[in-house]
Amino acid sequence: KLIPVILSGGAGTRLWPVSREQHPKPFIRLADGQSLLQKSFLRAKSLPDVVEVLTVTNRDLFFKTADEYRETGPIPMPLGFILEPQGRNTAPAIAAAALTIHKQYGPDAVMLFLTADHLISDLKAFTQAVQTAVKLAETGKVTTFGVKPEAPETGYGYIESEGHTVKRFVEKPDLKTAQSYVDSGKYLWNSGMFCMTAQTAMTELKSFAPQVLDAVEKSLAVSRRVEGSGQYQIELDANTFAEAESISIDYALMEKTTHAAVVACSIGWSDIGSWNALGDLIAPDGNGNSIEGEAYLHDVTNTYIQSTDRLVAAVGVDNLIIIDTADALLVASKDRSQDVKQIVGQLKKID
Ligand code: GDD
Ligand code: MG
Repeated sequence: KLIPVILSGGAGTRLWPVSREQHPKPFIRLADGQSLLQKSFLRAKSLPDVVEVLTVTNRDLFFKTADEYRETGPIPMPLGFILEPQGRNTAPAIAAAALTIHKQYGPDAVMLFLTADHLISDLKAFTQAVQTAVKLAETGKVTTFGVKPEAPETGYGYIESEGHTVKRFVEKPDLKTAQSYVDSGKYLWNSGMFCMTAQTAMTELKSFAPQVLDAVEKSLAVSRRVEGSGQYQIELDANTFAEAESISIDYALMEKTTHAAVVACSIGWSDIGSWNALGDLIAPDGNGNSIEGEAYLHDVTNTYIQSTDRLVAAVGVDNLIIIDTADALLVASKDRSQDVKQIVGQLKKID
């Protein structure tokens, strides 16, 4: 039994103004019309042996999420939703899923945790990697999916590996350390997906994050469960869930467990961490400009323009990101696309 679990939370502040609190990164639509969340859901539902697709997300995003799923066409399996009153990062979300799946399908059910906001371009390679991961999970491993690092990116987890064995997992190292890992050729990036049985998840959380497991268990005990046709929703209790430590699974568990395994894979993975990553998906014209929407340009080079509502014009500029939406316009240097999150920080201080 395989249960893909889609984790959908994080705000994606580097993709402002399209990514907002009520319209976070998973809902961003790509040029092909599909959102990142829809792509994740399609990946999940097309895997073999899936008995249910479970989603853990904020309660405010439930209807929006269910609508997005329905838009992808027929759904041949039941859907579950665990609805969080507030984001407490991935360890509590994973604990809630593990407790729920353990109760419904027993200790041997295999969970595949998927992110809601990444791109995977090679579905065949992804499916193969999942099959290897499921086998490792069935032997009691907490299995990660490692991809070849391309740069000393400090926002990722790094896995020192030898075959499927994980020698070390380091979450978000500083730049110097990240550079030494990349140079060594021994490390992989953690892609943020995990595969393990319900039993393994519970045992590991009990060892390394007992407070999280305990608070989430209490929250589930007094949660509200709503049943529909082929669908259920569990609304976590707010007061008890708020007591769970806000911590990611990477810090809470992956850095500490001795049961980690890794499947090294080449699946066309991209984290879509900034506007540059989205711009790279659009084939550039002869001047290196990538355009989504209507734009008029004169002497413009290496610029990414996205406009949904209005006509954009630019003259004599180079190396810019220009994102226009109904109520906000972003103009940024391509070299500074990581810093767009600073604007969101400033906006938060105002309201
Ligand atoms: N339900 C729920 N609740 N989902 C959440 C929450 C939460 O509170 N917080 C984050 N998520 C979801 C995000 O939507 C995303 O799909 C996934 O969990 C990972 O969370 P991020 O916040 O994007 O994590 P990260 O980018 O800092 O780091 C993780 O991903 C990297 C790869 O992109 C780590 O696993 C790193 O080790 C990894 O390299
Ligand atoms: Mg992320």
